Amino acid sequence: MSWNRFKTHFSHFPELGLSVDISRMNFPDQFLPSMEEPMQKAFSAMEELEKGAIANPDEDRMVGHYWLRNPDLAPSQEIRDAIRQNLQDIKTFVVNIHGGHLEGASGPFAHLLLIGIGGSALGPQLVNQALGHPQRDKIRIHFFDNTDPDGMQTTLAALNGQLGRTLCVVVSKSGSTPETRNGMIEAQAAYATVGLDFARHAIAVTGEGSKLDQLAVEQGWLRRFPMWDWVGGRTSELAGVGLLPAGLQGIDLGGLLDGAAAMDEVTRRRDTQRNPAALLAVMWFYATNGRGDKDMVILPYKDRLALFSKYLQQLIMESLGKEQDLDGQTVNQGIAVYGNKGSTDQHAYIQQLREGVNNFFVTFIEVLRDQVGEPALVEDNFTSGDFLQGFFLGTRSALHDNGRESITLTIDEVSPTSVGMLIALYERAVGLYASLVNINAYHQPGVEAGKKAAATILGLKGRIIEHLQSSTTPLTVEQISAQLGEQANPELVFKLVEHLAANPKRGIAKEGKGDTFDATYRILVQAK
Ligand code: PA5
Repeated sequence: MSWNRFKTHFSHFPELGLSVDISRMNFPDQFLPSMEEPMQKAFSAMEELEKGAIANPDEDRMVGHYWLRNPDLAPSQEIRDAIRQNLQDIKTFVVNIHGGHLEGASGPFAHLLLIGIGGSALGPQLVNQALGHPQRDKIRIHFFDNTDPDGMQTTLAALNGQLGRTLCVVVSKSGSTPETRNGMIEAQAAYATVGLDFARHAIAVTGEGSKLDQLAVEQGWLRRFPMWDWVGGRTSELAGVGLLPAGLQGIDLGGLLDGAAAMDEVTRRRDTQRNPAALLAVMWFYATNGRGDKDMVILPYKDRLALFSKYLQQLIMESLGKEQDLDGQTVNQGIAVYGNKGSTDQHAYIQQLREGVNNFFVTFIEVLRDQVGEPALVEDNFTSGDFLQGFFLGTRSALHDNGRESITLTIDEVSPTSVGMLIALYERAVGLYASLVNINAYHQPGVEAGKKAAATILGLKGRIIEHLQSSTTPLTVEQISAQLGEQANPELVFKLVEHLAANPKRGIAKEGKGDTFDATYRILVQAK
């Protein structure tokens, strides 16, 4: 790789403290000019979106996350007022909590349990890891982000004896996501077990009039904050979803919002080479042939950004992974995203990246400032941070020497401003790339399909339990399936009764030692 190629394709954005280096992507000279026309169309689509076009046609919705950090851009006074009012309400609420004016049953709030999933949890998790601090945070955050009872028990164990000082923030735009609802019910039960009034500790962040909203009103929860239909879950970190928990932790909300606004400003440029989000979008197009042919590996060399790959996995894969394009053609689009952090991953999958199947491109994220405070020397003249940079540069060059391509983003430091910037950078890159491949990045029909299938399966499980309760004899899988009729696929019945029998408190016994499929199942006690 020549110094000249590096100089040509290294873009520095001093106003952001960001550099984007695409010199290790091996595109030919004619590639960028060939993308000019489609990029101009993508810029125009983005301008329309920001003006309030129905950019999510399947759900007939506007897409307004860019307004959150610059309300003046919103298409109506009502929306502008709603954004400003919400931010003010969050700040006032946070001041009241930090000042001890609102307390839990056992005193000032010291913990926050956030219950949410997907876009309603990943942003707060990322921001917590990037910017939180176990000693400096005003309130310590914990998460329920799944319907795994064991996971919830573990989280509750960490809060043992502290629930009377724990705020519970239930986040769900739709207000009807089963995992989140279950988390809320388990949390309610935990408060009740120690004689505490859940409502006095609970806050909802949800769409107005949703099931969750109604419940919060009915039970008199401490507070409700809105989620608007023009903000998607995976782009909601800078709405109440992310700002409320971050504010409660004591993280600088102004920094997050200003960083995102500054990035928005720069990424509105219609000049691809002077627009970092456009550079990412065209490189994704080049690397994957606009068809997801290669995977995107995200490798931040910074522990605090380890969750960024997981956050981007959702943002990118839920946004771009679509069966049909905007014209209804079957395209099966998407880009697979994975990663964790360097140099740790050098002792994991980087062996395959260098020598194995070449089906990926890497995005390295380099952070110039190693740490706050005095660095320790681990060798003459070298700090641990010097080693970290050495491993980053070494890995990048080892991959390049073997024909593996990479982009490098360099930021000055991990701060509220730079985290806000990174979030905004990728939100815009996803939107521009979606235009390049002509898909709707703002809906998620695949997620809905999974939810419906799960509901059908739970319905079948309920019928199996009732059937076993009314049966006078133990039954095999095939008998249950035959007796329940058409929709009781025997494989599904097998999986469901095995799960019931493996959980002794469910009161269903499995008997028989012969062939796996000859076992019988019967009710021991009333099933729960
Ligand atoms: O990005 C999305 O839209 C999804 O990942 C949602 O955030 C997720 O399904 C949770 O939905 P809700 O906030 O309605 O509970």
